[in-house]
Amino acid sequence: MSRKAGRHFLQIPGPSAVPDRILRAISAQTIDHRGPDFAQVGLDALSGMKTIFKTTQDVFIFPASGTGAWEAALVNTLSEGDRVLMYETGHFATLWMKMATRLGLKPEFIEGDWRGGADPDSIEQRLRADTAHEIKAVCVVHNETSTGSVSPVAAVRHAIDAAGHPALLMVDTISGLASIDFRFDDWGVDVAVSGSQKGLMLPPGLSFNAASAKAMEVAKTGGMRRSYWDWHDMKALNATGYFPYTPATNLLYGLNEAIRMLHEEGLDNVFARHQRHGAATRAAVRAWGLEVLCKQQGQESGVLTAVMMPNGHSADAFRATALSNFDISLGNGLSKVADRVFRIGHLGDFNDLMLIGTLSGVELGLRKAGVPHRSGGVEVAMQFLEAAGQEQEASQVA
Ligand SMILES: Cc1ncc(COP(=O)(O)O)c(C=O)c1O
Repeated sequence: MSRKAGRHFLQIPGPSAVPDRILRAISAQTIDHRGPDFAQVGLDALSGMKTIFKTTQDVFIFPASGTGAWEAALVNTLSEGDRVLMYETGHFATLWMKMATRLGLKPEFIEGDWRGGADPDSIEQRLRADTAHEIKAVCVVHNETSTGSVSPVAAVRHAIDAAGHPALLMVDTISGLASIDFRFDDWGVDVAVSGSQKGLMLPPGLSFNAASAKAMEVAKTGGMRRSYWDWHDMKALNATGYFPYTPATNLLYGLNEAIRMLHEEGLDNVFARHQRHGAATRAAVRAWGLEVLCKQQGQESGVLTAVMMPNGHSADAFRATALSNFDISLGNGLSKVADRVFRIGHLGDFNDLMLIGTLSGVELGLRKAGVPHRSGGVEVAMQFLEAAGQEQEASQVA
């Protein structure tokens, strides 16, 4: 195979491209995870992640992909036969529901059309009807990576409270955290789940839980049989910066660098950057004459944009053309929307010029693959970014 010059554009919605600073941090020599030098690495990672989740409560780090932290959330707090209310925002909500079923839980799945976030009103309605309080948890996906829709987490909390229901609120923010606004304490979340390979800009391999005092209390006497995922085993050793089993030492070096980078930029600036890139991408998609999958205004993701293909055209064939001709990886459509949508990732360590490069890759790919569209989407995105930049400058002067 001949060499491809230049950088590959990894524009799937996670894993996101790992910045050089993080790659360098990860490449430091592995140290003794029970030795004296490790404690600070562990303490920094645990306290740093609290600032990212925006919590003063407990945070746990597992050497696992996000799916592991999904399981940890469920097995620490729920027992076989417990009812859980879940919301079908897309493929990942469906996978979490399937996991709950496999673990012996009884999920009730509120049907969704994959074109928006979870609806707090239908959650409230269902909880009001559950007068016996059989539902032990409400589980929603914050940023549904298969569709590019964001669930209103604070409103889901309000819905639970308005129904006077004691269910725990569990949120998958695997692809939301560190890219779009997430506030564990302010929003009254009980268990959050996240992963390293999206907004945190790390390679895959770490996952996280944040747990409220209420969830920790439930876990003390409740939950399922568990060992590897047990929060209390973790908490005991985490207090001094250590872990009950071998942690992913080098990923923790990277995590500490990522946390520094996020705070150097400022979390609010990180969120604003993602929102701006999401809006610029949607402007480009609409200028191409294509449709954005998320149709709920205000719930469109700043992390990724899922784009619907014109009827009769294969999203996978288009992605293959873009990859082979322009060295850009775009996300595929998953399960229900397989081959019908493609996803543009605009998350992580990403700037305006990288976005324009990405959108150029999409537009070139549409042309090359013979997908009907209007040209000029990239130009519209540039105009959008320019106007947004001027607005920002004006607000700084004011
Ligand atoms: C929203 C969401 N939930 C869960 C997962 C599963 O995480 P992992 O593949 O890291 O196990 C993903 C992965 O992309 C995701 O985006």
